[in-house]
Amino acid sequence: MKNRHIKWGLAALLPLLFSCGGSRSEMDRFIDELMGKMTLEEKLGQLNLPVTGTIVTGQAQSSDVAERIRKGEVGGLFNLKGVDQILEVQKIAVEESRLGIPLLVGMDVIHGYETVFPIPLGLSCSWDMAAVEESAAIAAREAGADGINWTFSPMVDIARDPRWGRVSEGAGEDPYLGAEIAKAMVRGYQGPDNSLSGNDHILACVKHFALYGAAEGGLDYNTVDMSRIRMYNDYFPPYKAAVEAGAGSVMASFNDIDGVPATANKWLLDDVLRQEWGFNGFVVTDYTGISEMIVHGIGDLQEVSRRALDAGIDMDMVSEGLLGTVKKSIDEGKLSVKAVDQACRRILEAKYKLGLFDNPYKYCDPEAAAKFVYCPEHRAAARRIASESFVLLKNEPFRGGKILPLSKKGTVAVIGPLANTHTNMPGTWSVAARLEEAPTLLEGLQEVAPDVRFTYARGSNLTEDPAYEQRATMFGRDLHRDPRSAQALREEALRVARGADVVIAALGEASEMSGESSSRSDISIPAVQRELLEALLATGKPVVLVLFNGRPLTLGWEQEHVSAILDVWFGGSEAALAIGDVLFGDVNPSGKLTMTFPKNVGQIPLYYARKTTGRTLPEGHWFEKFRTNYLDVDNDPVYPFGYGLSYTDFTYGETTLSAAEMPWDGSVEATVRVTNTGDRDGKETVQLYIRDVVGSVTRPVKELKGFRKIFLKAGESQDVTFTITRDMLAFYGSDLQKAAEPGAFEVVIGPDSRRGTKAGFELLGR
Ligand code: NOJ
Repeated sequence: MKNRHIKWGLAALLPLLFSCGGSRSEMDRFIDELMGKMTLEEKLGQLNLPVTGTIVTGQAQSSDVAERIRKGEVGGLFNLKGVDQILEVQKIAVEESRLGIPLLVGMDVIHGYETVFPIPLGLSCSWDMAAVEESAAIAAREAGADGINWTFSPMVDIARDPRWGRVSEGAGEDPYLGAEIAKAMVRGYQGPDNSLSGNDHILACVKHFALYGAAEGGLDYNTVDMSRIRMYNDYFPPYKAAVEAGAGSVMASFNDIDGVPATANKWLLDDVLRQEWGFNGFVVTDYTGISEMIVHGIGDLQEVSRRALDAGIDMDMVSEGLLGTVKKSIDEGKLSVKAVDQACRRILEAKYKLGLFDNPYKYCDPEAAAKFVYCPEHRAAARRIASESFVLLKNEPFRGGKILPLSKKGTVAVIGPLANTHTNMPGTWSVAARLEEAPTLLEGLQEVAPDVRFTYARGSNLTEDPAYEQRATMFGRDLHRDPRSAQALREEALRVARGADVVIAALGEASEMSGESSSRSDISIPAVQRELLEALLATGKPVVLVLFNGRPLTLGWEQEHVSAILDVWFGGSEAALAIGDVLFGDVNPSGKLTMTFPKNVGQIPLYYARKTTGRTLPEGHWFEKFRTNYLDVDNDPVYPFGYGLSYTDFTYGETTLSAAEMPWDGSVEATVRVTNTGDRDGKETVQLYIRDVVGSVTRPVKELKGFRKIFLKAGESQDVTFTITRDMLAFYGSDLQKAAEPGAFEVVIGPDSRRGTKAGFELLGR
């Protein structure tokens, strides 16, 4: 491959032809020629993805990476941070391996790179697709300049069990919203036309395919058992949307499906992903996904590696099963070389599309890195977007007036284990964050409201159990336990609270109590913090609960007793400033929940798009014998999907339809007038829900089918119109084909999944 630079020079023109719908065969020919020179071992090397670097996101580690790159045993690397280090390994690949094939360099760039945006669950609560796309584009630009060409994002697993810690990494419970967000993320990472042009767009990886969010009991990595009709209707749409948006890679999930781990599930990876959806990128396993199948009990390393490759896996993250055993399987006649060729080609195609054959150092751009990474513009965007993600859960009058927004004067006591911590602000899966530079809540508030006198007390530790906190620590973040007793901490806090006009109680979860391997069986605010909150309320001071959380929590008590609650999730590197912007009213909160908040763990799974039973209860009712209800709790959530308040009020008029009947190939317009009846300008997310009243199979009581985030000045009204078309009424029936069925439909437009005004129409037959 002596002339490869000349060939790469020519290759520079090819993506252009490719993207214009021109000659795909140019890429094929380039890869044919390259593969013609490769040995079987070198081809297997392309399928190998070891881990290196200081970031730790799994148990097993790889060694001797440099030497193995020289030998052609490595197709890509991940968890390496820093443009110089990445340049070094890329140079080894290009200059010191026989064929000089550049590396894929991956990282979990999940919600930002050094500039960190809200955790994905929080980001989804913005319902702002432009903001979602912008956050991904900024992440790509920073990571892309700093050596990374591939991100393990977006995570689009639908999740309806808040015990699962990884709900923090996705967009919540709804397939329609999840699909919209999946598309926006792919556009942000790969560029609006998937051009992957320049180094400010990188390859996306849709994960975790599939159904990882439905792990039994909310227990991480657990078994999934689900009907296909539910997969297709409720869990597949975001993956499919991301694939259709052009995502270049897909990550297989850890869980099994129909008794076969996703990593070896041919039906999933081939029939569904490639044949049905037309996916033409490559599939990578999750971390040790292949070797874990030994523990799943479906074979030894050789057998599970064979099954993975045969099922459609192209790249092996960390297990080294493909590299180590596939040759033997071929020799024994258990696998064909064709399977290796196909996977190798897909990896090379990805490298080609990234432009790495043209310029292997395209993504190592120290100048761009110095200019863009953590730059003021990106941080300003992170602050703006974070403030869109916060959800005002409650703001009831307290002694005659609402507590929020706060006035920028007087004394404010900031109390709680999350009030003065840097490391907890960016949230889980922010592996490149400058943790110590993220302002603490206290610092952020001081900057936003310099005339306020702020006082501080820790009030309590996160929990009373240091071992629990230790278990929750995945990325080694120090939780800074205070050695004083709970009583001493509380007494100090009460002294501070009594001297203030208002108390901000910064409570909830530490950032690593959600995320991977962070399932909880009790999803309330830890007891010691709740006791602190009770004591603060007992002082009679106005108390604002600023809630940090990576998942829905059970907040029944808090909803009953606290007048003002702002859910801030983990808002990223600028979270503290954004929280200040909202608390002090510079920004009017507009986030709305994308997961239902249950009353207790026993209600789980609780989600708005449920089915009726033959003995269902109407919403808002409780116990009747022989009905679908619990003896000890009703079926209602504390906060429903789509819920979120504002400092102003919005009222909704009647939902009106342009026609009572929709012809088979026609459409119906549904309109509602929304009025800002309060005295502040604000944003409102108007939500469209549809119910298929009678179907060939049972259908959910309602499904989100559209939304619009609008801005209304105080006193202003706007008519919001949704055009309903037949494809919005279609669903997968027993035959797993997607179709709409003629008949009656109900339409509700409202501010959340439980309120709104109703209308109905009929879809006519063909
Ligand atoms: C395991 C996680 O499940 C996955 O989301 C992540 O991308 C990989 N580790 C790599 O860190």
